[in-house]
Amino acid sequence: MSERPEVKPAEGRLGILLPGFGAVATTVVAGVEAARQGIAKPIGSLTQMNTIRLGKRTDNRAPLIKDFLPLTELEDIVFGAWDPIPDDGYESAREAGVLERHHIDAMETFLRSVKPMPAVFDKEYVRRLDGPNVKSGENKYELAQMLREDIRNFKAENDCARLVMVWCGSTEIFLRPGDAHQTLEAFEAAMKANDEGIAPSMLYAYAAIMEGVPYANGAPNLSADFPALEKEAVKRGVPIGGKDFKTGQTLMKTILAPGLKARMLGIDGWFSTNILGNRDGAVLDDPDSFKTKEESKLSVLEHILQPEMYPDLYGNLYHKVRINYYPPRGDNKEGWDNIDIRGWMGYTMQIKVDFLCRDSILAAPIVLDLALFLDLASRSGMGGVQEWLSFYFKSPQTIPGLYPEHDIFIQHRKLKNTLRWLGGEEPLTHLGQDYGPEDAEGE
Ligand SMILES: NC(=O)c1ccc[n+]([C@@H]2O[C@H](COP(=O)([O-])OP(=O)(O)OC[C@H]3O[C@@H](n4cnc5c(N)ncnc54)[C@H](O)[C@@H]3O)[C@@H](O)[C@H]2O)c1
Repeated sequence: MSERPEVKPAEGRLGILLPGFGAVATTVVAGVEAARQGIAKPIGSLTQMNTIRLGKRTDNRAPLIKDFLPLTELEDIVFGAWDPIPDDGYESAREAGVLERHHIDAMETFLRSVKPMPAVFDKEYVRRLDGPNVKSGENKYELAQMLREDIRNFKAENDCARLVMVWCGSTEIFLRPGDAHQTLEAFEAAMKANDEGIAPSMLYAYAAIMEGVPYANGAPNLSADFPALEKEAVKRGVPIGGKDFKTGQTLMKTILAPGLKARMLGIDGWFSTNILGNRDGAVLDDPDSFKTKEESKLSVLEHILQPEMYPDLYGNLYHKVRINYYPPRGDNKEGWDNIDIRGWMGYTMQIKVDFLCRDSILAAPIVLDLALFLDLASRSGMGGVQEWLSFYFKSPQTIPGLYPEHDIFIQHRKLKNTLRWLGGEEPLTHLGQDYGPEDAEGE
């Protein structure tokens, strides 16, 4: 185990910068303010609600995570955003249709105070959207420099001690890393040459890393997950993580699949379909944006079930994912799963899941936790990919050469053990052999 780093205190204000100020981002901003005003509880957030067991079960030590480690207080958070659509937080939250009017209206003044900065946006990468609030520049390198300037100005104007950035922008088209993504020199040269392999989200990621600002990608597109930026993040000690917030159907999948596998039950087929009617759904109606999402959703089962190790159980698994844009449903998505499983002597059974979910309600606490944990990592000198935050992602970014861990229970243990390690406590193994009669109650 590497040496435990010193964790610096969370002094001063933390700026949370959100490229993309739509449904998810406004729900985070409104939810944090609602918690600050005592209007609503931050349900779903580990940093705000979860305890952490320390030592033996008999020690009875289980403080809240936020009391165990120095996390930024909600009162010390300020928000910034970029979006090609100029709507302020109030207008954007109304448009998103996630929160009810009584919540939005109660926080109108605050929500209106968050106004998106002009975005680096290119319709080529998100075809179903357009907006006037955009920067123009000679080339992509110049645009990235403008983002760096925005970051510095935001920090000074809002008197922030530290910043983090979480991409909440639309899903961009599917791109694979090429030569331009291998080294920082190649990447910068490609930006100057307006290389089409460089999408706007990469410019935000680059700007963040160069400014020493931790970066997480909440969408499935290529953004900071390639060698040039990963190496730079390690070099500069900047924590990064991604990608694609684990909400809705994939959350259910990574809860159910490890359980079925733990019981050594076979799975012949898993058919997943969604209907959703928000702006994200409209963007995903473009086949190239959908392909990015599909890749992210499909890889999950393969890694959890390990068909190469269990060919009899998962060797012929048929996995299909569909997303259907259906405007009447708005942000309240419906995800159906049909799972064909196989038990003793090969007898077949079926499981049906119909999840009437609210995607942004599930995503918002993830954004808050990622921001606070990335800030913690940064104050602990942990640069590069933060694999311990895989818990929050559909396609966890890994240290090069390692396969991603998708099982939510392993991810959860990993996250909590990392926190124990940071706090100078022993990781929990759950072995249980060190309990004796003297530990029994009343002894
Ligand atoms: N809602 C969820 O639960 C969930 C789960 C996983 C991933 N995601 C991803 O998170 C992202 C946000 O989801 P949402 O529901 O808020 O979508 P949304 O469409 O409501 O908001 C996205 C916003 O990003 C803006 N945008 C697009 N390109 C931009 C750019 N280059 N710079 C700045 N802003 C830009 C759009 O104008 C839009 O306002 C999507 O990529 C989505 O796939 C969401």
